[in-house]
Amino acid sequence: MTLLHDADLTAAFDRGADSYDRLVALNPGYHAHLRRSARRLALPDGGTGRRVLDLGCGTGASTAALAAAFPHAEIVGADASAAMLARARARRGLERVRFVHATAEDLVGRAAHGPFDAVFAAYLFRNVADPDAVLRGVHDLLVPGGRVVAHEYALGGRRSHRAVWSAVCRGVVVPLGTVTGDRALYRHLWHSVLEFDTAPEFAARMRRAGFDGVRVLPLPGWQTGVAYTFAGRRHPVTAGQGR
Ligand SMILES: C[S@@+](CC[C@H](N)C(=O)[O-])C[C@H]1O[C@@H](n2cnc3c(N)ncnc32)[C@H](O)[C@@H]1O
Repeated sequence: MTLLHDADLTAAFDRGADSYDRLVALNPGYHAHLRRSARRLALPDGGTGRRVLDLGCGTGASTAALAAAFPHAEIVGADASAAMLARARARRGLERVRFVHATAEDLVGRAAHGPFDAVFAAYLFRNVADPDAVLRGVHDLLVPGGRVVAHEYALGGRRSHRAVWSAVCRGVVVPLGTVTGDRALYRHLWHSVLEFDTAPEFAARMRRAGFDGVRVLPLPGWQTGVAYTFAGRRHPVTAGQGR
């Protein structure tokens, strides 16, 4: 099937924004897993004195996970969809977050709003047209030693992982998305995961973008083998300083 890209994908998220939070609430583990991945950034002292970017923040579910994990951090949320962002801005508990309407490509291309001590991106990289360029840009937005966590649906590599993912999408995700009028968006979700990197491939992509210490960490529940936390760091010494 043809995947959605760029403006078409943003338009689909704009249309799907009103039902997004209701749909993810039906997904067991969705919020708990975001919190688990956010904690894996492991910023000390509740994030005191640290700047954190939530790239592709959507309706603010991932931003809320960051705010819970790091109550003292300065958090910026960015998203390409105005309608998703409007829901994030209205979410209770995120009053201290600054939200920016921007594509990931634009934000990293202009090195805007940085530098950051940490970047979190939940369900983003599979959706961008050039994930290598955005990963390199994220790397460059980080301070030396800065941390990145990508939280993503990615298949573990076994045939059973692919079968579970397709069964859940065919049986639950796409039918529910059809009810809310967002069939194209949730078919995109299904097929974008099948066509994008497996977990080891995405980890290799992160290493190629320059990240050190890349780790692939599993998530529990039905998401076992189909969703992971990918954690890495920018090298603590900048190029030209002895690397
Ligand atoms: C599946 S939602 C995830 C939202 C949120 N991170 C969460 O965990 O619930 C993906 C989000 O990424 C945004 N997105 C997709 N491609 C983007 C891009 N190139 N730049 C910025 N945001 C993008 C979409 O608008 C959407 O809000």
